[in-house]
Amino acid sequence: MDFELENRIVTSNETSEDSEIEYSLRPKTLNEYIGQKKAKENLGVFIEAARGRGEALDHVLLYGPPGLGKTTLATVIANEMGVNIRTTSGPAIEKPGDLAALLTNLQPHDILFIDEIHRLSRSVEEILYPAMEDFNLDIIIGKGPSARSIQLELKKFTLIGATTRAGSLSAPLRDRFGVISRLEMYNTSELSEIVTRSAGILGIEIEPSGAEEIASRSRGTPRIANRLLKRVRDFAEIKADSVITRDVADKALKMLEVDDLGLDANDKRMLLTVINNFGGGPVGLDTLAATIGEEANTVEDVYEPYLMQIGFIYRTPRGRMVTKLAYDHFGIPFVENGSKSTNANYSIFDGE
Ligand code: ADE
Repeated sequence: MDFELENRIVTSNETSEDSEIEYSLRPKTLNEYIGQKKAKENLGVFIEAARGRGEALDHVLLYGPPGLGKTTLATVIANEMGVNIRTTSGPAIEKPGDLAALLTNLQPHDILFIDEIHRLSRSVEEILYPAMEDFNLDIIIGKGPSARSIQLELKKFTLIGATTRAGSLSAPLRDRFGVISRLEMYNTSELSEIVTRSAGILGIEIEPSGAEEIASRSRGTPRIANRLLKRVRDFAEIKADSVITRDVADKALKMLEVDDLGLDANDKRMLLTVINNFGGGPVGLDTLAATIGEEANTVEDVYEPYLMQIGFIYRTPRGRMVTKLAYDHFGIPFVENGSKSTNANYSIFDGE
């Protein structure tokens, strides 16, 4: 992740400041958890059934773009099941022994949460299969002729895996999850509810129109909504009687260079590159990523989900296309069937 991306106010990746805020703002129960109606309904049934039978919950895979509350949902599940949760991530588990240490320390029905599970190494993944399926751990101790394999029986546990890319998971791993839930981007009314709830916890007065203003500029993502709320709160306290109105939110967000759709300079740079350098597309993902100096994965996981959600960009077999809506947003004339304007007045280096 490059420096600029980490420092975007609208980055959906978790920053160190977020973990602190998110902890205090995090819902504890499914009832408090706003949005994700479908995932919540299903999980509610599975949790109640598992609890009724006195069993561990089936393994759960949560997938979807970053910032939608996968970790939050995992902690809610643990809380609803009344069990402990141990949190780790794919890249943090370097060796099979690291995973063995985590698994052997779990109490019955505990949850092991592995974020970015698509980044587990193959050797670690292989010992995860029998652990998930039969609650057995097959590990090899020692090296060379004296190496021996031992089997350990594990307590029944629940693995919750989270990933931004379900497609990168190996089929054998994916098949071992009993519950697979896709998290969706949040709509403005759900985000308004989250912002209002968070403002209450932070003790800042907010008008409904202020919450809506923040919500509609948060890229469908609670993590961004909560981050913008904190910045707007600073502004409200210093410049506006400590009340977040629509006008206060608008002024604060303008100052942060977050536009009325939540787009920042990086989004604009990407869209304007497709418009100005590639006639609106189609342009292949790798070519586009190289042109704007980003990783293809970053373009796919961080920039595109929201730009697709608001209908500014779409994927075709021949590459990415920018839509008329995006042209309209920048005030660039859109010409149907091919030769679109690449008006050089709209430079990618211009601000708003
Ligand atoms: N904070 C972050 N995500 C949330 C959600 N889905 N519901 C309530 N509060 C949240």
